[in-house]
Amino acid sequence: PVLVVDFGAQYAQLIARRVREANVYSEIVPHDITAAEVAERNPIGIVLSGGPSSVYEDGAPAFDAAIFDLGIPVLGICYGFQVMATALGGEVAHSGVREYGSTNVTVSDAGNALLADQPAAQTVWMSHGDSVSKAPAGFDVLASTDSTPVAAFANDARRLYGVQWHPEVKHSVHGQQVLENFLHRAAGIPADWNSGNVIADQVAAIRAQVGTGKVICALSGGVDSAVAAALVHKAVGDQLVCVFVDHGLLRAGEREQVEIDYVAATGVRLVTIDAEDRFLSALDGVSDPEQKRKIIGREFIRTFEQAQAQLLAESAADGDPIRFLVQGTLYPDVVESGGGTGTANIKSHHNVGGLPEDLQFELVEPLRTLFKDEVRAIGRELGLPEIIVGRQPFPGPGLGIRIVGEVTRERLELLRHADAIVRAELTAAGLDSQIWQCPVVLLADVRSVGVQGDGRSYGHPIVLRPVSSEDAMTADWTRLPYDVLARISNRITNEVADVNRVVLDVTSKPPGTIEWE
Ligand code: XMP
Repeated sequence: PVLVVDFGAQYAQLIARRVREANVYSEIVPHDITAAEVAERNPIGIVLSGGPSSVYEDGAPAFDAAIFDLGIPVLGICYGFQVMATALGGEVAHSGVREYGSTNVTVSDAGNALLADQPAAQTVWMSHGDSVSKAPAGFDVLASTDSTPVAAFANDARRLYGVQWHPEVKHSVHGQQVLENFLHRAAGIPADWNSGNVIADQVAAIRAQVGTGKVICALSGGVDSAVAAALVHKAVGDQLVCVFVDHGLLRAGEREQVEIDYVAATGVRLVTIDAEDRFLSALDGVSDPEQKRKIIGREFIRTFEQAQAQLLAESAADGDPIRFLVQGTLYPDVVESGGGTGTANIKSHHNVGGLPEDLQFELVEPLRTLFKDEVRAIGRELGLPEIIVGRQPFPGPGLGIRIVGEVTRERLELLRHADAIVRAELTAAGLDSQIWQCPVVLLADVRSVGVQGDGRSYGHPIVLRPVSSEDAMTADWTRLPYDVLARISNRITNEVADVNRVVLDVTSKPPGTIEWE
């Protein structure tokens, strides 16, 4: 792999994704990795990320300078550039001038592999206080800005390179080309990593792990579990059984998407558990959001355990019990939980289906090295229907936490109808790629007066919550075109009984969360 050294902040994951977009496999490692540990992983290149610190600060993230002597090509970015400069005898100055945001850079040496074919004047994204004031001996200066004399440097003999700006950020107009120049031209790494060989590798790995054992997978209807199960099915066929719990809190058409479209595309063995009555009676009379979440989580586990017991009994009869459980864990969850890389534990991820940790299974996690967009690409390559692969995130507790107030069958029916209208209109307007997700919420405890037909109405409001986001940790409300909002409002108030008002949520996250409960 190419190792991306994480000096903190949010840059390392973005760099890792951009490297993969250049068709080169990348992994994130912590900044305190030693030269011996690096050598053991046998990387074909190293990228040092930016970070929030100054190289002179007490407690600045340490880095083992012996890594520069391993003969592996290295690209330092921003803070990583300054770490390289300091470690190899250059100078970094507190210039007192902060460069932040879009900056004009002048490329003086477009003959060097790193900046080959780059325009002499270009706009890049900067975010730094300190600057490299003198390149180390043996390094050529390739670019500068008005306030930064050394904005990029190279030592071709040692294959060490650095840039002060952030090539991984889209605001750096030619940034991706800088990364690709480093990978392909300077380091000579071929562009040969793609969804096709990820699938081949994962299929081989799953076969090696599972052998002839039986595997179970809880499908949520979402992208991750769907792609994970499809991969496992491709690897071991009918050794896999998928379980889908219909808790009655799904959106219109979701059960059919899994039972018909997904099964047709993959051929997986699917067991659907009809648990609507069980969930709705457990939720009867409950309106507190936390209590709803707890009840839904608890019932989900009970239902799954029941299905599992049934399947276990069935499979034990033929002497071969189920030993493996598929999980759709993604790479950001692994990095953020500190799994395998030693990075700080930012948050322990909780699984979509809310399965407990003490399930007696060995986990199969074929997506744990992948980012979400890569999972979608693999799903498409495996032939999964777009309606599942392109699906918006949907919370495990489903519509249960999108009804503010008690959850009843009638209210679910009403919300499903309104939600289907919103989804259809957003898709028809071509807006699916602009929004991260658009929860539709029923304020069941609120009524307002309206006039419908020739008479007074006293109905409920529906809230639209369209948001734009990169990762759901922060979000902004999406500025939907007025005519699309008007059409949605018109249709909902005309077509959905008992709703006489449609309102738009214009709150960012923070302070609002994406969901209302
Ligand atoms: P919030 O409301 O916390 O949501 O801003 C962030 C993202 O997580 C989804 N979400 C959930 N997903 N189980 C899930 O699998 C849950 O209990 C849950 N609650 C919220 C939400 O849709 C958004 O994408």
